[in-house]
Amino acid sequence: MKKRVGILISGRGSNMMALVEAAQAPDYPAEIAVVISSNPTAPGLAWAQQRGLPTVALHHKAYPSREAFDDAVHAELVKARVDLVALAGFMRIQSGAFVRRWAGRQLNIHPSLLPLFKGLHPHQQALDARVKLSGCTVHFVTEEMDSGPIVAQAAVPVLEGDTADTLSKRILVAEHKLYPHALALVARGQATAEGGGVTLGATEDPAAQLFSPQL
Ligand code: GAR
Repeated sequence: MKKRVGILISGRGSNMMALVEAAQAPDYPAEIAVVISSNPTAPGLAWAQQRGLPTVALHHKAYPSREAFDDAVHAELVKARVDLVALAGFMRIQSGAFVRRWAGRQLNIHPSLLPLFKGLHPHQQALDARVKLSGCTVHFVTEEMDSGPIVAQAAVPVLEGDTADTLSKRILVAEHKLYPHALALVARGQATAEGGGVTLGATEDPAAQLFSPQL
């Protein structure tokens, strides 16, 4: 049985598109049950609508509190019979209650090698730190932002002359490969959140969690 995935977006939605494309493969272990946007004018929402995917626009500004907005998102996920949630450029901080409801069943992608460069402007943070490698991380969502158990990471070189823009474009290419791969690991039950870390299934090659740098 394929796992039913709800994708939460706020903007461009390129990671959502990568997940939607991956889920077209007959042997992919997950299907996209709903795309929910916190922003009714998000380009990603229009794309998903054009593709005929089930979509919901919930404008966070229309709700009196974070909890009320999160309750509405939760209700839509339940209505779509979602098993797993994938945050894809979802720019809302979630309430503790929402995070706990989806504990071990919610993933996020962040464009750095966590735990480095959490929060805003991770590409500029990487440039400021003069690191030679950055990348992206798919992790389970916990109450502390960008801190949950790591499912998989891709390393991406930082090149001479990079700006936040050129680095983010290079990392985004890796994100689009890493996220479908990490979601598949979780959907197959091969990567599970346990004891603050991620346990990989006995038959799974540890290399499944690593994407090497490519120039
Ligand atoms: C992606 O680079 C994603 O990693 C980042 O936002 C971008 C969304 O792009 N997420 C975060 O920074 C979360 N802290 P997309 O809408 O095209 O997928």
